[in-house]
Amino acid sequence: MDLSVTSTEYTTVTGTSAFVPSPATPYQGDIARYWNDEARPVNLRLGDVDGLYHHHYGIGAVDHAALGSSADSEYEKKLITELHRLESAQAEVLLDNLGAIGRDDTLVDAGCGRGGSSVMAHQRFGCKVEGVTLSSTQADFGNRRARELGIDDHVHAQVCNMLDTPFEKGSIAASWNNESSMYVDLDDLFAEHSRFLKVGGRYVTITGCWNPRYGQPSKWVSQINAHFECNIHSRREYLRAMADNRLVPQAVIDLTPDTLPYWELRATSSLVTGIEEAFINSYRDGSFQYVLIAADRV
Ligand SMILES: C[S@@+](CC[C@H](N)C(=O)[O-])C[C@H]1O[C@@H](n2cnc3c(N)ncnc32)[C@H](O)[C@@H]1O
Repeated sequence: MDLSVTSTEYTTVTGTSAFVPSPATPYQGDIARYWNDEARPVNLRLGDVDGLYHHHYGIGAVDHAALGSSADSEYEKKLITELHRLESAQAEVLLDNLGAIGRDDTLVDAGCGRGGSSVMAHQRFGCKVEGVTLSSTQADFGNRRARELGIDDHVHAQVCNMLDTPFEKGSIAASWNNESSMYVDLDDLFAEHSRFLKVGGRYVTITGCWNPRYGQPSKWVSQINAHFECNIHSRREYLRAMADNRLVPQAVIDLTPDTLPYWELRATSSLVTGIEEAFINSYRDGSFQYVLIAADRV
């Protein structure tokens, strides 16, 4: 799939060159630029801890013994290490739900960011992982990290719309969206996963979704949408779109109580981005949930 012919090259805010392939929609062009320009310390400094770069949130209890006293001169460094440990714990839980994966299998990381989850999947299963992202900066970053780790024959990222991928029908053992499904229409997304997944293959998403029990997206959810230029779906929409696309939920896990400690800790750090309050309030008032859904392709 050669997207370079119709792409537009430009210089990002950080001075590096990036490109936006002829996007399917103007919105996708905006999202490509957003991620090409993104260089938030909360993402980069956490990734620098061990070279696994994530753009997702953490889960699990905070290790207060490891953090020590906030008066300690090393406290900020320890806090970054702790936030990163919780982010990687999130990716481990996603991988736990992929089912049995063999070394000869190929997985798809849809909306792969800088590729942290792809690397972890290869390290755990020995398999191939194909990442897709709208951002050329992210794909370049992920491919560079894979070369540095000597795993570029197994882990590869490309600039590609996850709604229209080059993967053969029925060729993929498992696939996932780690916090990337709120940028697309869910019917279109699950139709594409369903197309390239093998029958019996596994699909997993970890995502924030609004809670139908609350009624409509709360003001906090609207704030998060505006901040990230995304469109958070409801839990009901996920389950309906999966059912319509031959993806049958095998597990639905509410990770909301597990992600709150991450947010509460992050809100105390120098890396705050201003969106922490919206996440904490919406998780607490029940209008927003952090969920994992694992589904079988039937
Ligand atoms: C919040 S980041 C998550 C990155 C990664 N999954 C992780 O866990 O670190 C969202 C990602 O979704 C990607 N994305 C959004 N819409 C997309 C689309 N239509 N096709 C491919 N990638 C998309 C963005 O390029 C970005 O990499």
